[in-house]
Amino acid sequence: MRCTHQDVSLEYDDIGDGVPLLLIHGFLLDRTLWRPQIAGLTQIYRVIAPDLRGFGQSSDTHGETMTMEQYAADIKSVLDSANVKQAVIGGISMGGYIALAFYAQYADRVRGLILANTRAVPDSKEARQARLTNAQKVSDVGPSSLVETMAPQMLKSAPNAEIEIAARSMMMRQRSPGIMSALRGMAARPDRTALLRFVTVPVLIVSGAQDALIPPSESEAMHALIPNSRLVIIKDAGHLSNLDEADAFNQEIREFYKQVA
Ligand code: MLT
Repeated sequence: MRCTHQDVSLEYDDIGDGVPLLLIHGFLLDRTLWRPQIAGLTQIYRVIAPDLRGFGQSSDTHGETMTMEQYAADIKSVLDSANVKQAVIGGISMGGYIALAFYAQYADRVRGLILANTRAVPDSKEARQARLTNAQKVSDVGPSSLVETMAPQMLKSAPNAEIEIAARSMMMRQRSPGIMSALRGMAARPDRTALLRFVTVPVLIVSGAQDALIPPSESEAMHALIPNSRLVIIKDAGHLSNLDEADAFNQEIREFYKQVA
């Protein structure tokens, strides 16, 4: 499916029936990240999975800063285009930053939130600087060294070989301008901690015990602040918990749906 707003075109999958679940992929990835969720959940729910602007088959960016709020506005356009008034909004990692930005702007469109392998706090000064340096490096020489650094940190320590190959090839096919825009946008993201206490919808927080990029402590911190939240730390999962342990991840979503459907 395709949604076009202003000059931006966003590709998305929209499969199944029932209370919609919109899933937002993370950095250096695209909507194919959610294949195991589409395979495991669309018999019971409607799953909508967009490519963020600059990634997958959606329009290119030009390397400019794409704020989490701008990505969230794109997600709203996808919901509008799919005629969805309210959905469960789920995001992993950078997708979680965007899910929180979406809730901050469009709470009335949210039936529940899934925050996977993500955090509410902004970058430290050093992390921000590193992102901006990486964005410049991607601009100068392309994304391959960033992919080489990040790929081994995305999955658990002994990942399934097929999953490892698929994740790496997903990262390798992403384009420099979109990567630069996302790096600059993540560096600019605000602290969402104050929002957490005011989240009124049910929230599922998922982490991986082997997450090398965003440790479970970040999820515990969000869980302590969000009133109606459930925290699940999947023992054998790394950063991309939905790939490492797809069955466990999908099962948690099914349980969560009992609260929101
Ligand atoms: C992601 O997986 O989306 C990124 O690792 C998030 C981040 O770098 O903060």
